[in-house]
Amino acid sequence: MAPIRKAVIPAAGFGTRFLPATKSQPKEMLAVVDKPLIQYAVEEAVQSGVESIAVITSRGKSSMEDHFDRSPELEQFLEEKGKLDFLEEVKGISNLAEFCWIRQKEAHGLGHAILMSESYVGHDSFAVLLPDDIFDCPSPCIGQLLDTFSELKSSVIVLGRVDEEGMKKYGIVKPKKISERVFQVEDMIEKPGPEKAFSDLGILGRYVFTPDIFDAIKKTSPDKKGEIQITDAIKLLLEKQPVYGYLFEGKRYDAGDKQGFIEATIELALKRPEFSQKLSEFLKSL
Ligand code: G1P
Repeated sequence: MAPIRKAVIPAAGFGTRFLPATKSQPKEMLAVVDKPLIQYAVEEAVQSGVESIAVITSRGKSSMEDHFDRSPELEQFLEEKGKLDFLEEVKGISNLAEFCWIRQKEAHGLGHAILMSESYVGHDSFAVLLPDDIFDCPSPCIGQLLDTFSELKSSVIVLGRVDEEGMKKYGIVKPKKISERVFQVEDMIEKPGPEKAFSDLGILGRYVFTPDIFDAIKKTSPDKKGEIQITDAIKLLLEKQPVYGYLFEGKRYDAGDKQGFIEATIELALKRPEFSQKLSEFLKSL
């Protein structure tokens, strides 16, 4: 089986959890330390062998496209001023991957957003990265899933242990343990809450799908809110082929949420040599 080279990043939402910051700018462009959220997802994909990325976008979000494009005036300015480190960094961003920008004209949920990429993906298997989630792992999180995919040759979703609060925020799986980190998914439910949760294993924002997911999405009925949930589509896919869950190794921040965003900013800044000492002194002084 050929290695997976394509990824899809759904980035068409309103970012309501982050209002008012997201009133006129995409949530995906909010910076954690000094990089927009979406760049963390793009770099993680590229480090895992992805070469081509489709971003599902919507009206008012074209600053994401500009971010990954060349910026000749800025590059010339940096060159003239001798700011060569920034110049390299800015040029590097536009060379990270090949991009395809797909508009989701109306928001009908995550499953619907992923369906927008069907003609781009074609008959290949592909990765999906939700840019709200920042993973800080010994090896890139989506790479951990891709390794599992190449072993099992079936769709794989990333799992993490969640608390009762998390059972209201994430899809939850019914797992059958295969090995330390690999589970076969027997069932799943979107945001059940602790009473209806099958387990404490929540679906976090990374997936690797066979192209059969598109047929499953097309057969998925909208939920009570009129949204086509990817969790419901995966449930249908399960009837045709196995789906596995992988308990990832590392740390994850829900940076689409204000609290998670602040935590990610502090912890990732503390890991940077230029900020660590002064920032930890500042935090201790509070
Ligand atoms: C989506 C998925 C959910 C998953 C979560 C991970 O929810 O529907 O199953 O657990 O991403 O971040 P959303 O955050 O879009 O509401």
